[in-house]
Amino acid sequence: MATAAKETPGRSMGHLALHYGNAEDGPKAAKLLALLGLVETQVLPFPNGNFYRFVVDDQHFARGDGIMYLSALPEPQLKLIETIHEALRVGTSDEHEAVKGMRQMMDNDFEASFHFGFLLNSLEDLERIILDLKDRAENDPDLKGRIKIGLNRARKGNPEIDARLDASPLYGDVTRFAYGSNGVQAFVETDLLKAGQLGDAMVIELDYVFPGYDQHVLSVVEM
Ligand SMILES: [Fe+2]
Repeated sequence: MATAAKETPGRSMGHLALHYGNAEDGPKAAKLLALLGLVETQVLPFPNGNFYRFVVDDQHFARGDGIMYLSALPEPQLKLIETIHEALRVGTSDEHEAVKGMRQMMDNDFEASFHFGFLLNSLEDLERIILDLKDRAENDPDLKGRIKIGLNRARKGNPEIDARLDASPLYGDVTRFAYGSNGVQAFVETDLLKAGQLGDAMVIELDYVFPGYDQHVLSVVEM
């Protein structure tokens, strides 16, 4: 069998279930996942919004891993989020101190709370995807105002990598640094996906690690 040769022993990450808020955000959230490089394999229409199945990329083969499901938030969860928002005055000028604190933390560090990361094997792909999303965050009616981008460069110290990132159309002027060396991070925060403590947004991370280094941002956290 063709797929048998590709099977690897042991365990892998299986799937992640993501949610959007209302039916009309479904196609927009699905569009965002496709722009991030995921491949849609199935769409099922439901009264409260489409159910989608994505796989991690076009190299994916039919096993049970590398899958992202996307569907509408179920009614009880919507109700819970609404109730939390009312109780904590989320989105008003009088937000609960705890909400303000959480927002402040997330503004300083996109990966301080729940998020999900994809590892890419090409820095050029990562640059292309994020530059495109930055443009769409301002000009694409489906994504305008729905995306915030955060960027971390590799820690300085490797002249070759520093030079590549100085010349990068994406990282050239970035002044934030990752918790490690030899790799870069890009964060996409969107309210098209509903997750986290306030159920109002989700952060997806794209990573690239330069080849040939045992120690890098995803292997060792440096403080
Ligand atoms: Fe992360």
